Amino acid sequence: MELYLDTADVTAVKRLARVLPLHGVTTNPSIVAKERKPIWEVLPALRDALGGTGKLFAQVMASDAERMVAEAVLLNQRVPGLVVKIPVTAEGLAAIKKLKAMSIPTLGTAVYGAGQGLLGALAGAEYVAPYVNRLDAQGGDGIAMVHELQQLLNLHAPHAKVLAASFKTPRQALECLLAGCQSITLPVDVAEQFIGTPAVQAAVEKFEQDWQGAFGTTLLS
Ligand code: E4P
Repeated sequence: MELYLDTADVTAVKRLARVLPLHGVTTNPSIVAKERKPIWEVLPALRDALGGTGKLFAQVMASDAERMVAEAVLLNQRVPGLVVKIPVTAEGLAAIKKLKAMSIPTLGTAVYGAGQGLLGALAGAEYVAPYVNRLDAQGGDGIAMVHELQQLLNLHAPHAKVLAASFKTPRQALECLLAGCQSITLPVDVAEQFIGTPAVQAAVEKFEQDWQGAFGTTLLS
């Protein structure tokens, strides 16, 4: 499977790349905007934070197919290997088809329905990103949508991967993996929750106390 961080925070990427088996970093316009720096500075810094390797994802800002394609070409030229995120709108589908013909890899994003995600994959996207928490937040069932989308891709577009996105809890991410998704992207706080629940720290501290009590040190020897 592929594990990504959903952030443009270079310090957080450096910190977590040291401990997690990261495949790369995903961004979106809101995530990059938070950094208050040009995207052409942010993307190389993220690649450096990953140790010079790893897959990066960045999104186009245009809303018509022609300009989406032009922005995608620019992103892909300036950041080699970058996967271009294209919202799966009608214009986005047209752009994904053109970019597929140009061999520029894409991710169909802003997916709120299984059928919409399937269309992105059939248009030629390498990844499709269902928005789990955002769908839950508007009264839908994000996990059920991911189940359907994964089944549809298995049956009709096996070249494409679900890159499940928009999480607020580790449980949401685990449910997507159990549904068969091959890739997930986690915000920094959710990634940290996977490894840092209070019970874990309490268990480690109790071991130290017991050892200290018996041997007067917290070291093995
Ligand atoms: C990824 O493709 C999305 O842009 C991102 O995961 C959305 O996350 P949010 O719903 O927490 O903003």
